[in-house]
Amino acid sequence: MRFKKKNLDDLRSEGDLNISPRRRAWTKKHIDAGTQRWLDLDARYFLHQSLSTPCLNVLSGCEGINLKDLQGRDIMDFHGNNVHQVGFANPRVIEAVKKQLDKLAFCTRRYTNIPAIKLAEKLTQLAPGKLNKVLFAPAGTAAVGMALKLARMATGKFKTISMWDSFHGASLDAISVGGEAVFRKDAGPLLPGTEHVPPPDCYRCLWGCADNCTLKCADYVEYVLSKEGDVAAVIAETVRSTSIVTPIGYWKKIRAACDKYGALLILDEIPNCLGRTGKMFTCQNFEVVPDMLVIGKGLGGGIFPLAALIAREDLDIMPDRALGHYTHEKNPVACAAAIATIDYIEQENLLANAEKMGIYAKDRMRKMMQQHKIIGAVRGLGLLMGMELVKDRKTKQPATEEAEKVMYGALSKGLNFKITMGSIITLTPPLTITKKQMDKALNILDQCLREVEG
Ligand SMILES: Cc1ncc(COP(=O)(O)O)c(C=O)c1O
Repeated sequence: MRFKKKNLDDLRSEGDLNISPRRRAWTKKHIDAGTQRWLDLDARYFLHQSLSTPCLNVLSGCEGINLKDLQGRDIMDFHGNNVHQVGFANPRVIEAVKKQLDKLAFCTRRYTNIPAIKLAEKLTQLAPGKLNKVLFAPAGTAAVGMALKLARMATGKFKTISMWDSFHGASLDAISVGGEAVFRKDAGPLLPGTEHVPPPDCYRCLWGCADNCTLKCADYVEYVLSKEGDVAAVIAETVRSTSIVTPIGYWKKIRAACDKYGALLILDEIPNCLGRTGKMFTCQNFEVVPDMLVIGKGLGGGIFPLAALIAREDLDIMPDRALGHYTHEKNPVACAAAIATIDYIEQENLLANAEKMGIYAKDRMRKMMQQHKIIGAVRGLGLLMGMELVKDRKTKQPATEEAEKVMYGALSKGLNFKITMGSIITLTPPLTITKKQMDKALNILDQCLREVEG
């Protein structure tokens, strides 16, 4: 099936699409017959969807910052689905997993286990304010669902305010609060009462604030809260993981508005928790404490699917209902991986490295702006970084085709990253990254931009 260009552009939000002609061309050039055979089988047996199958390539290994493909090529991974804070196959995490497998490999409902208890205790110690109660789930989207349910039960209200362009997971409740056509279009009726507002995006501010931010976007959220009057929760990504950095002051305003109108604040930090932004939790950059914090991805050490809802202690009010009830709610092996991951982050000072390497990389990328007119903006927080490509810095027309070319160019040279919103090169390397590795990646990016600009 062929897709019209317009349709593709509407769907380029969460990631680059696998149905573009450029994808087919890349595969033809770089994939040998042996790999192609596996790709064909993958396409034969998996349901096709625009962000995975048909897949690009087949992996045979991953270690540290690198992926290895079947053809033996190393690929630096600046994407990693945001699970590789401590690097892939981190030896200390693997050792903890192996030890736990030999002790207790599963925990049947009705029982608990020491790794689960220790992880819950650790998370509440790390989380700010009175975020002292935890519930685990086997996916971020499930944890978002638990947060939405708890917000409804705790407030007796059901409406939510969330952001256009946001992503909170792929399940029906999460796509209802999410704001991306690639997940919502043709899905039929979504949850009722899920109001959407424009996200805080200083580069493409709907209110035209641009560099003179007056936080009108936050005022608008307050306006909707006041007009509706019965909103259960505002749910949002603390920082959009496409690397659209929320302006300072935004969350304090939203926090105050939520308190004024009796709505809970749920912050989704699933992709950037545990240090990516230079703080253990992203909200700590904004000095704001939500009522519920949802984390995931890297929590499982890049090995297990594990997410957590961390809620305010006084929201522990539903002992006679089931909020989660997921089979792997207290999986001891996943929890052992999470404890080892957090220990590694702390022992190796990865928060400081994320901050330092993030500053270094952004500085280099800003210097690259002098050579490459195509770069409209460089931004980020810690090692959540984005470079937005535009056809013209004045009109800010997204350079979608060019971004895709840069991505496939970089893949050919051994660098993997994600394109979000069609034109944002999104860079999320492991927090273990060294300056040498960062330079190698940025040199590849520089070269690809040069090639695309001709
Ligand atoms: C902000 C955000 N929320 C929720 C999710 C969903 O997490 P999971 O894929 O574990 O369900 C993601 C995944 O990419 C995400 O980036």
